[in-house]
Amino acid sequence: MIPLLPATPQSLLQAASELQAGRLVAFPTETVYGLGAKATDALALAKVFEAKRRPFFDPLIIHIADRESMAPLVAPSAAAGARVKLLMDRFWPGPLTLVLPKSDAVPDLATSGLPTVALRMPSHPVALALIRAAGFPIAAPSANPFGRLSPTCAEHVRSAFAEGDGISLILDGGPCEVGVESTILSLAGVTPMLLREGGIPRSEIEALIGPVEIGAASAAASASGPRPLAPGQLEGHYAPRTRLKLLTHTETLPLAGSRLGYLGFRGGPREPHAAVEILSPDGDLRAAAANLFACLHRLDRAGLDLIYAEPVPETGLGVAIMDRLRKAATGSGIE
Ligand code: TXA
Ligand code: MG
Repeated sequence: MIPLLPATPQSLLQAASELQAGRLVAFPTETVYGLGAKATDALALAKVFEAKRRPFFDPLIIHIADRESMAPLVAPSAAAGARVKLLMDRFWPGPLTLVLPKSDAVPDLATSGLPTVALRMPSHPVALALIRAAGFPIAAPSANPFGRLSPTCAEHVRSAFAEGDGISLILDGGPCEVGVESTILSLAGVTPMLLREGGIPRSEIEALIGPVEIGAASAAASASGPRPLAPGQLEGHYAPRTRLKLLTHTETLPLAGSRLGYLGFRGGPREPHAAVEILSPDGDLRAAAANLFACLHRLDRAGLDLIYAEPVPETGLGVAIMDRLRKAATGSGIE
């Protein structure tokens, strides 16, 4: 098993020296656990793609701990934009990733050859302390095999990878508070474009900088050739191994005799199920987001034939939750 160490000053130093030696470390952020490597070390980045079995067309987010670290990574004019400053003032550190024109210091492997780089300043104290201890920006995708459920606690990471996957250690910083990935906003074009719904609702961004375009996977693909601009927007993603079906509000449940699981928003199903998880008995969308992946991991381990998921209201964080549930349904093989 991959060593799992509670985050302490000592384990942070150990993790930092693993990163300095070009090796991989999994660490907590406020959104999900990340699989980190030194951002400017192409060889280390290659290990990330290998460990996740991630296609090379899917670029990585680079994590920084202070604004000064941004300038060397972006094109000279990019950090100076008025919108960039507004967004950083309001949402950093926190679950907002900004896509900006990149500098030559960023290896092509990190950006999959795109002329832009995705940057974020996480708010989790362990993530910030790790970046500072390492002394350089850390490139980190979510610490899950490509396309599978995201990890929101250290144990999720440990159970998804084997010792041979090249991950030196997992820093345990407890469960992730936000529970869905960062919102990705591109400021590389004329109009800001939302590439992924996430921990900061679109409405909060629009209240600050005005309307943003929605970067649909198909629109993005036609703009830049065959690959989507943010390949996390691929249709099948965040998928459990068990088939998952997203219910509509009017549906009742078929398939008697199968082992069925149920993911409810506020309450359970009328009929008995083999396993039931509730996202938030109070109907709180923040709590629901924080619980989403842990509930899905538990259902996925319960030996079920099928998981039914109840829709949540599509406001605030509910938009990101529904995005994950729809992709989980597609990725698990059911529409
Ligand atoms: O909350 C998060 O963002 C987490 C934590 C660990 O920080 N990270 C995360 O990384 O979700 P990952 O690799 O699972 O998703 C990163 C997404 C991918 O969909 C990728 O396509 C997109 O970011 N991305 C990265 N660089 C990009 C770029 N230059 N242009 C457009 N999209 C980019
Ligand atoms: Mg991911």
